[in-house]
Amino acid sequence: MMMVKKLCCFQYFALSSLLLAVLVSSKHHGNSANDLVDIINKNRTGQKLPQLSNSRGLGCIALQYAKECMGNCSSSKSVNCHPSEDDFTEIFAPNCGVELPTFGTISGFILGCQPKYLEPLEAFSNVLVHDKRTLSLLKNKTHTEVGVGIIKAHKHKGPYLWCILFSSSQRNTTFVLDNLGEGIKQKKGCYSGTSFPCSRAHRDEGLFSNKIGIMVLLCVFIFFQESLLKLL
Ligand SMILES: *[C@@H]1O[C@H](CO)[C@@H](O)[C@H](O)[C@H]1NC(C)=O
Ligand SMILES: *[C@@H]1O[C@H](CO)[C@@H](O)[C@H](O)[C@H]1NC(C)=O
Ligand SMILES: *[C@@H]1O[C@H](CO)[C@@H](O)[C@H](O)[C@H]1NC(C)=O
Ligand SMILES: *[C@@H]1O[C@H](CO)[C@@H](O)[C@H](O)[C@H]1NC(C)=O
Repeated sequence: MMMVKKLCCFQYFALSSLLLAVLVSSKHHGNSANDLVDIINKNRTGQKLPQLSNSRGLGCIALQYAKECMGNCSSSKSVNCHPSEDDFTEIFAPNCGVELPTFGTISGFILGCQPKYLEPLEAFSNVLVHDKRTLSLLKNKTHTEVGVGIIKAHKHKGPYLWCILFSSSQRNTTFVLDNLGEGIKQKKGCYSGTSFPCSRAHRDEGLFSNKIGIMVLLCVFIFFQESLLKLL
């Protein structure tokens, strides 16, 4: 009787762990770049400043920017990296499919680098908007649009590079993407203005963040259950 009770207990425990693992793995499947844009806008409206439009084209340019600066991202917060102006129109825009005549004015950028993945709010206050320069940039009244790109340096680990670009161009008519606004699909990293989830592009891949991990867990669970039943 005691044994049966223990078994039930074990089953209950194992099943809850399994459920928890599934839940944890299905969390954060949003787009962190969009989350950061929301945080930026909340911060601005908190200071009575107008919201910035989330521009998909600018977001993709921010991703290209981050990509180019990846090599200059160590573990320090700030990144010393200044792509040339030509890179924007000759490399970044074509890589995204931004229609060149619609390329607008970039009125500011913030780059941040971190060894581990941080949640967008943490990244915002600890890494990106953490000094006078970046805070005043965030509050600048001339910005109208914003775009965020995030990239991870290595396939299975960081560092993570976040790039925020501001533009002072007329809303909705700049950084227009070809292919009916779809632009060119990006293989690495993620950016704001799209509904593509970021998670797979830049999160640390733990055991439970993939289906194989869950399968392994399930097998272990079944195996233990069988052996316990044999013991009885
Ligand atoms: C905006 O962000 C800055 C920097 O993280 C913070 O100090 C400030 O309190 C925030 N303001 C609002 C209104 O959220
Ligand atoms: C990256 O860092 C190196 C060394 O500090 C510098 O020479 C280079 O210009 C940087 N790259 C960019 C794109 O700014
Ligand atoms: C706001 O940004 C514009 C364009 O980059 C710049 O000319 C201006 O000096 C900035 N204003 C403040 C208050 O920093
Ligand atoms: C830009 O587009 C958004 C969504 O498509 C719309 O809500 C907004 O009014 C537009 N802004 C301007 C200035 O046209």
